[in-house]
Amino acid sequence: MKRIYLSSPHMSDAGYEKEYIKEAFDTNWIAPLGENVNQFEEEVASYVGIKSAAALSSGTAAIHLGLKAAGVSQGDIVFCQSLTFSASANPIIYEGAIPVFIDSESDTWNMDPEALETAFQKYPNAKAVVVVNLYGNPAKLIEIKQICDAHHCVLIEDAAESLGSKLMNQETGSFGDYGIFSFNGNKIITTSGGGMLVSNDSEKIEKARFWATQSREKALHYEHKEIGYNYRMSNICAGIGRGQLRVLDERIQQKTNIYQIYKKELESGGILSMIPVPVNTEPNHWLSVAVIDAHKTDITPVNIVETLQGYNIEARRVWKPMHQQPVFEKYDFIKVAEKSVAEDLFEHGICLPSDTKMTEEEQSVIISELKKILNL
Ligand SMILES: Cc1ncc(COP(=O)(O)O)c(C=O)c1O
Repeated sequence: MKRIYLSSPHMSDAGYEKEYIKEAFDTNWIAPLGENVNQFEEEVASYVGIKSAAALSSGTAAIHLGLKAAGVSQGDIVFCQSLTFSASANPIIYEGAIPVFIDSESDTWNMDPEALETAFQKYPNAKAVVVVNLYGNPAKLIEIKQICDAHHCVLIEDAAESLGSKLMNQETGSFGDYGIFSFNGNKIITTSGGGMLVSNDSEKIEKARFWATQSREKALHYEHKEIGYNYRMSNICAGIGRGQLRVLDERIQQKTNIYQIYKKELESGGILSMIPVPVNTEPNHWLSVAVIDAHKTDITPVNIVETLQGYNIEARRVWKPMHQQPVFEKYDFIKVAEKSVAEDLFEHGICLPSDTKMTEEEQSVIISELKKILNL
C-alpha cells in the first residue's frame, strides 16, 4: 500500500503555485525579496483581517521576532503553553528569557486561563505569554487576552497550526498583540518552509523585517547598530504560498470532512473520542486527533502507531509536553487540575492521518484497522 501521511504538501490542482514561481523566474527575481513576498504578506494580512505581516523563513523565526518585538530579553519570564511543539518554546531561550510552562484545559486542549491567572500570581512581572492553537483548535483566546491585558503583558498567538480557524467568527492569529503562522511542509498550506509574523502594530512589523534582514541600517555602506538575523522568506517560497492561499478554504473543507468521517465511524462505544470542537469556533481541523479511554481498553497510542506503521500508515502520538522534556524540565510548570491535562493528552492521544490527498477509500482502510485493533 502506498504510504499515507499525517499531513503532507498538497499543491493546487490548477497549478497556481507554478504561475507565481514562473513570474519570479521570468523576471529573474529568484531571491531574496520581490513582488511575491510583498503580495503574500498583503494577502495573508487581508485573509486574517490584520494590518501588517512579515514573511519569514519559518514559524520559529516568527516567534523569535515576536518575542523581540514584545521586548523580551535576558532574565524575563515568559509563560508558554506546555502542550505544544518545542518551536513554541525554543525562541524564549534564544533571547535568554525564562520559560514557565502552563497546563492545558480539556475544552480546547490549549492554555488553561485559570492556570495562567495562577501563574501571574506567582510571577506578576512576566513579560509575554505564548499561547498555541493546537491542531487547529482555537484556545480560549478572549479570556487569555483579558488576563494578559489586566497584567500588562504581551500576548503572542502561536497560530502555526491554525491558519483559517475562527473563534467568534474572527481569524486565529489576530487575537494576540502578535500572531505567527507556519508554512512548513506538514501545515495546512505550505511554502516548503516559511512563516509569517502578523500584527496590527505596523511599526513593529517593519522592525521585524529589519531584524530579519541582518538589521541593515539605511546607508550607502553596510551599517549595523543591532544584531540581526537572516530570516526573510524568499520570493520563490512566497510564490508557492500565494498559490497555496488560493486553495486554503478548500483544504479546510477537506480536513473538516476527514475529521467528521473519523468522528462518525470511531466514537461509538466510547473507547475513542475525537478532539472536541470548542464552542463558538470553526477549527481548520489541521490534524484529526483521538483520545483513548484507558478505562475501556489496554491498547495504547504506541500500539496504534506501531500497528498502522505495519500498513505504511503514519500516525503519531500527541506532542509530549514541554515541562516533561529533558531540555526544559528544570523550568516551572503551573497547573490547577490535580492531574495535568497536558500529560493526560500525551499519554492517551493519537494523531490520525489527516492528509488532504488521502482518498475516502484509504481513510476507510485506516478506520477498519483501528476498529480491529480496538475491538470497536
Ligand atoms: C505549534 C507550532 N509552533 C511553531 C511551529 C514552528 O514552525 P516552523 O516549523 O515553520 O518553524 C510549529 C510547526 O512546525 C508548530 O506546530
